[in-house]
Amino acid sequence: MKEKLIKKAIDILEANFQEGGFTIPSKGLYPFQWKWDSGFIAIGFAHYDIEKAKTEIKTLLDAQWENGFIPHIIFHTDDDSYFPGADFHRSELHPLSSKKFKSTGMTQPPVTGFVLQEMYRIAEDKTDMLKFIGTLIDKVYDNHDYFYTNRDPNDEGLVYIYHNWESGTDNSPVWDDIWKTMNPPDYTFERKDTTHVDASQRPSKREYDHYLNIIEIAKEHNYDDDKIAELSPFLVQDPLFNAMLIKSNEALIELYGLIGNNQEKQKTLTQWQKKSIQTFNDKLFDPKLGAYVHYDLRNKKAIRHICSSSFSPLFANIPDNERAKILVKTMLDKFGGDDKYLCASFDPTNERFNPKKYWRGPVWINMNWMLYYGLKNYHFNTVANRVKNDSVELIERDGFFEYFDCRKDNGETLRKGYGGDNFSWSAALIIDLLKT
Ligand code: DGY
Repeated sequence: MKEKLIKKAIDILEANFQEGGFTIPSKGLYPFQWKWDSGFIAIGFAHYDIEKAKTEIKTLLDAQWENGFIPHIIFHTDDDSYFPGADFHRSELHPLSSKKFKSTGMTQPPVTGFVLQEMYRIAEDKTDMLKFIGTLIDKVYDNHDYFYTNRDPNDEGLVYIYHNWESGTDNSPVWDDIWKTMNPPDYTFERKDTTHVDASQRPSKREYDHYLNIIEIAKEHNYDDDKIAELSPFLVQDPLFNAMLIKSNEALIELYGLIGNNQEKQKTLTQWQKKSIQTFNDKLFDPKLGAYVHYDLRNKKAIRHICSSSFSPLFANIPDNERAKILVKTMLDKFGGDDKYLCASFDPTNERFNPKKYWRGPVWINMNWMLYYGLKNYHFNTVANRVKNDSVELIERDGFFEYFDCRKDNGETLRKGYGGDNFSWSAALIIDLLKT
């Protein structure tokens, strides 16, 4: 069974790999290269085709801007089956944007550092992999430098995101609190996502109005970081985004150590790391909820909801053992009933929970993958194995979809996952989980 599942996963990755040296997340729905998808995909490739893993990351970093920024979507082809495309985003407005590739003017979670570390862990030929890492590690460092220089206006060690699409958790109910502070125009545009996927599983038209409005404001100022910090209605310190940055800092420190000769950069990374972890724990932990939460930097207040991002600090070794125990208790109490698969993307006891709608409740394999390794870090082996087994069971029975119903009984006899089918990171990460 395990071999059959791995074979199917490999077939999906191979079918989604494109001539341009990158992998689409899912045919139809997502026809370009996405930043965090690419990272997770490379981990899957590393298990059976190390050269493809290298290519995926090389192509991603090829689209880096001169200021170190890495965009969230790279539009390698002219494909009008996706909205909003290159003509809407207009990355060329920013003076330092890539001259080679059109892209969005926003980013996505900083996965690249820890992905290189994973590739090193998986690679059989460590010398060859370290040589490869040596050719591009400075680009990843520059990306972190971009974040700490441009996305931390109060010099706290926590970076902000200025758009919900930067978080990766696109339509999380956490953002509803921010939408209440905005009143965007009722834009006219043609959605493409709902031609590929049932609208009940995707964000609403009104949500898209908010998404587009933030981009319009950023474009008015040519994606200038200072202006965005001053004017964007969405400005959030996100625990998932910052946890991934911290995890990637840790990876870069280790990899520079292995490569040698880069004491300056290691020193700077160590300083960033210390401050980031300190502020993360002081500012983002909510003792009443027993979880990490988002902080709305624009409106200067915490957004007090629990979602799967609340547990992601385990992946980056951020909490101490005491706090890790509290996190796991919260997770099991709220998300871990016997009638549920781990781990819902949003608190199932909250009235905003929706088991079918994208990031408002369904289980996501990339979050489970992080949670699995995070729980292992703190030796919660039983819960970690539950997360792994739940992921395998869901994929085996419901298919290689983008997201899954967390209810063990959802009233359907012939279950299927939700969102895009033959989804690359579901395939890539299940290979890793099954081979680990
Ligand atoms: C989408 O189109 O929903 C994408 O996830 C944005 O990154």
